[in-house]
Amino acid sequence: MKSEHKLFKGKTLAILSGGGDTPAINSSIEAIRNRASMLGYKVYGIRHGWKGLLGDGDIIDLTNQPYDGWYGGTALRSSRTNPFPSKKNPENRVPQILKNLKRYNIDVLVTIGGDDTNGAAKRLYETEGIPVIGFPKTIDNDLKTLSMHNYNGSIIEAVLCPGFPSAAKAIADFTGKLKTTAESHSRIMILEVMGRDAGWLTGSALFGGAELALIPEFDMTKERKEFFFEIVKETYLRSPKKMLIIPVSEGVRWYDEKSGKVDVVYASSELDEYGHPRFGGISGIIASDISHRLGIEARAQITGYYARSGKCSQYDRRLTTTLADKVVDLLLREEYGQMPTMNKIVPYHELEEFNTSSIDMGAIGNKALSKPYYDINKFQFTDAYTHFLGNVLEHKHYQDFDYDFPVVVPDKD
Ligand code: F6P
Repeated sequence: MKSEHKLFKGKTLAILSGGGDTPAINSSIEAIRNRASMLGYKVYGIRHGWKGLLGDGDIIDLTNQPYDGWYGGTALRSSRTNPFPSKKNPENRVPQILKNLKRYNIDVLVTIGGDDTNGAAKRLYETEGIPVIGFPKTIDNDLKTLSMHNYNGSIIEAVLCPGFPSAAKAIADFTGKLKTTAESHSRIMILEVMGRDAGWLTGSALFGGAELALIPEFDMTKERKEFFFEIVKETYLRSPKKMLIIPVSEGVRWYDEKSGKVDVVYASSELDEYGHPRFGGISGIIASDISHRLGIEARAQITGYYARSGKCSQYDRRLTTTLADKVVDLLLREEYGQMPTMNKIVPYHELEEFNTSSIDMGAIGNKALSKPYYDINKFQFTDAYTHFLGNVLEHKHYQDFDYDFPVVVPDKD
């Protein structure tokens, strides 16, 4: 076929990825690149997020290049560079960005990111008229994408964001594996899970056999802590193998006896260019408090970057291509300042383009875990959340060995 007939021949589309990586970014890049190429675009990659548009620019040509979308992380690399002035960096980088978009003849920009990266892109669209299309990405699953979940006839506002399915699978697998060591020592394992201020990812430990969980959406005040200890003891004692895995979000706000305050635990006091601190270490404090309070051996385990690492899951692979189909639609309509989203939460085989729409990139915002998904009095994710996650994870990610060996009684002397 002659390429002259291609719709956007002579035009260039450039892709960048910003913020924390996920296992689904390469899959998104490949899917967007393939579709934009079919429309006739030359496709560039901007390296290290917005940083690749500063100075002389750091741009690569992705057109017709082999690409492995199953491989995790992002081959374009990432950064938390903010084009606009921030506390950490007061410099306005917009003039440099505009200059490079011109120098490299970039006609359309696709920004793979969360609230920060896409928020900045939307500002560039509004203030400078740069044609941008956003593409969702985060393991935290906390973008306000208005994807509805139909649970037993009631509609719950949920989120389905590329990166989350792979990370959820990693956390479910990790939890399922931890079971054997927890069982062997009759321990309580406190499993710390990323997710910033939202508990979506923590809930995926359910599919690895966890029962109780703590999420950032509800403060662990002095009173709630006491109540939690009671529930932990009761649940541990009735567990057949005397063990418990309790996933806790990195952003859990926990009452500190010494200061008398409820607060998160920071891994560092430094803020990034979008004003975010880094969380980390709450699991150690909770494990130590449980050991002291209940006299049951407890250990902390931080899952950290494991959730973000490795291969793209099958669900994510299809989710990214489905959303990339919608990017084609936005390009054809020349509807910029938009980001594709899923309308409904669906199982793998129902991930299809007709179930997508788009939202204004300026209205993305953060979405905490929806209330119907967590029972504050039981410290448990609800059946509604199990149903939500079932679409993505399909089955439990652990094995059981239900042993009940007869105890041998010695002969009388
Ligand atoms: O937003 C994604 C995320 O992985 C969070 O869950 C986590 O708090 C943060 O990024 C870690 O950021 P960094 O990669 O800068 O350590």
